[in-house]
Amino acid sequence: MSAAATAAAAAQTRPGAERRWEERVQRAAHPFVYPLLSRIRRPVLRVPRVGVVVTEAELVRSVLLDTARFTKTGPGSPADLWTPVLGPSVLLNMEGVDHLALRRRLGPLFAPAFVNALTAETLGGAAARLTERLLAGERVDAVAEVRDFAGRVISRLVGLDHDVVDAGLFARVSAVTGYVRLSRPRFTEPQVRRARAVLDELTTHARAAYRDDGVPARTVPARMRELGLSEQEAMGAVGAFVLTGTETLVSYLPRMLAILHDTGWLGVLARDRSGEAAAIAEGLRVTTPSPVMLRSVAAPARIGGVAVGPGDRVVLATFLADRAAGAFDPVANPAASLKQLWFGAGAHFCLGAPLAMAQIGTTLGAVLDAAAAAPLAIVERRAQRGTLIPGYSRLVLERS
Ligand code: HEM
Repeated sequence: MSAAATAAAAAQTRPGAERRWEERVQRAAHPFVYPLLSRIRRPVLRVPRVGVVVTEAELVRSVLLDTARFTKTGPGSPADLWTPVLGPSVLLNMEGVDHLALRRRLGPLFAPAFVNALTAETLGGAAARLTERLLAGERVDAVAEVRDFAGRVISRLVGLDHDVVDAGLFARVSAVTGYVRLSRPRFTEPQVRRARAVLDELTTHARAAYRDDGVPARTVPARMRELGLSEQEAMGAVGAFVLTGTETLVSYLPRMLAILHDTGWLGVLARDRSGEAAAIAEGLRVTTPSPVMLRSVAAPARIGGVAVGPGDRVVLATFLADRAAGAFDPVANPAASLKQLWFGAGAHFCLGAPLAMAQIGTTLGAVLDAAAAAPLAIVERRAQRGTLIPGYSRLVLERS
């Protein structure tokens, strides 16, 4: 943005106006844990029954980069949660050379050309229809809309052209992530059985696509076969993509639209798109859709001043680390100094980040196209209760 445009934008915005609803969204999802963690004023604090909580950005990053001492595979780590559901080799429960090798093989699926084509094919038409409906004066629930978008993308990931992921299946996937609680390091047996049933529903399609698709591959599972993944690895990857890449976006996109609306930035960007990238980054920073990351301590270490030892669970409170940089502010853009901490850091940095950014850009672009013709207002909204990833259950937009 030019200096004049920046000054004009700043005059039309309401700094900090996003906080009231963001706070409600977080509390609705985690009525006990959110206030508990938000009260922490120290960079590192041992919290009984939760773990060693880290709240400062540089310390969070240092833990993420030290995979020799802090792993995703020990007691209290993500592996404890996900291995019984997804199997042993699904990136988010792996470390070391096997992890690196699998990531390398999956890399081409997240290369810009592949991701942009996938997003255009799956969301292009739906995004254009979103703009048209808003322009026609229809009331549009952004949550239902982005769930539909996510369903289209999942359908593509599991290898189907048509939309197999309806609202029912989507709700069953959300129920699985809803089993996760900070105070509960493992799923119960019935939860594991239910989670496996949901994933089997998805991988039935993916398995068929992996086996039957021709050469060159037309579907994502078959592309994984071409990239050298075994059938088991490919099914694990499909499960991991669905679990990590769906709710984060269904959480983020409506929250981003709400923040832009509440702060006045929706109108600013509708007139001048040059601040779009900073607004998206700032939105990701203040919402941090994946609010915490977990690690297990493998060898004695210190985090800040606190000594930790094997078996300790480390809770990286990314949402606090990101939020410490202040309120949503695309002009000062404090997000720029955080190196996308909301996507993690180091070996496990979000593999799907390019796909997430493509989907975010497409959705925001569709809304801004409508907002450029007439201002949009939020006419109804409700925070979602009791979910792992905080978000709205309803956020209705309409031309004002
Ligand atoms: C706004 C959306 C998203 C956010 C905020 C997000 C955030 C994250 C974070 C913080 C991690 C690192 C976790 C850790 O180190 O413990 C991660 C990992 C991962 N994400 Fe995302 N994610 C998003 C969207 C997606 C999408 C769309 C996909 C793919 C379809 C995806 C796939 C993955 C995978 C496979 C990993 C595991 C990588 C590994 O362990 O090597 N994510 N994500």
